Parts: sequence; C-alpha cells; structure tokens
Amino acid sequence: MNTAIIYYSMSGNCEDTAKKIAAILDAELIRLEPEKEYPDSGFRKFFWGGKSAVMGEMPKLKPYHFDARAYTRVIFGFPVWASNPTPPIRTFIRDNREALHGKKLAAFACCSGGGADKALEKLKKQLEIEALQAELILIDPKDKPNQNNDKMIREFCEKLS
Ligand SMILES: Cc1cc2nc3c(=O)[nH]c(=O)nc-3n(C[C@H](O)[C@H](O)[C@H](O)COP(=O)(O)O)c2cc1C
Repeated sequence: MNTAIIYYSMSGNCEDTAKKIAAILDAELIRLEPEKEYPDSGFRKFFWGGKSAVMGEMPKLKPYHFDARAYTRVIFGFPVWASNPTPPIRTFIRDNREALHGKKLAAFACCSGGGADKALEKLKKQLEIEALQAELILIDPKDKPNQNNDKMIREFCEKLS
C-alpha cells in the first residue's frame, strides 16, 4: 500500500515522528510550509500560531508535490496548536478534498500535554469522516524522549498494515 505522510512541524517533533513512521511503512514524506512562516520563538510564537489556529485560518502554502493517484493511504501529522490541528494542515485538506476521497486516512499529533483529542476530532470534522484508520498522540517526542514512543509508533503502524 502506498502511503503519503502529509505533515507540518515547527520545531521538529512531528518531523521526527513522520520520519520514523515513513521508515516503518516505506512512506513518502510531504512537508507543508506556509508561505509566510510563523514566528518560532518567544511570546509571538504562541500568540500568532495560537490565534491562527483558533481562527481556523488556512494560510497559503509553499508549493508541494502531491500526486494523489500514487497513494492509497494518507497520514496527517501535526503539532497541536490551541487544541486545534495546525493551520497548514487545514489548507491542505481544503485544497485536496476531492483527491483525498476514498483514501484510507490516519493521523498523528504531537503536543506538550493536552488538547490532542480535540484537535483530532476537529481534523475528522474537516475531513467529514467518523473515524480514522489509526490515531497516535505523542508528547514532545523529540524534546522529551521516552522509550514508550517507539512502541506507540510501531503499534500505530501495525494498525495500518
Ligand atoms: C502556537 C502553539 C500552540 C500550542 N498549543 C498547544 C496545546 O493546545 N496543547 C499542547 O499540549 N501543546 C501545544 N503546543 C505545543 C506543541 O503542540 C508541541 O510542542 C509539539 O510537540 C510541537 O511539534 P513540532 O516540534 O513538530 O512543531 C503549542 C505550541 C505552539 C507553538
């Protein structure tokens, strides 16, 4: 089964996770980047990112290559921002709604503690689906390494196999 991992990562936690999943599933990584980068430090990072997420913004993305015909499965990966999926993921879903139709869908979310369940619910709502094939929530896996994370990543991948 050909898999694309569509992800956004500001500070590397989701990117690390995406790479580990890609290595297990032999998946293709597609990193989303907003045309206008979010501030990535200090108060501005939380203020602008949080505001953008809460407002449900869909920022313009830098060009990316996603040929939907090449994939039967799509995994979304994002950091939780104010209990929401990060805005670039919302842009991608809006722009690829037709192309995602009929794909098997799964998602992982990285967060510092809370709000991931809500964010995954919002993702499903935007995708207009009841359930994902698999879901995974990790707490800052790069910044706070934990042996259990690799096990959870493996279990997530097993659900997809
Ligand atoms: C704007 C902003 C809002 C955030 N909101 C939340 C939140 O609601 N809940 C939470 O647990 N972590 C929150 N975080 C922390 C990130 O979700 C977490 O550190 C994540 O692992 C970062 O992933 P990344 O390194 O791939 O960017 C927030 C971070 C930012 C920058």
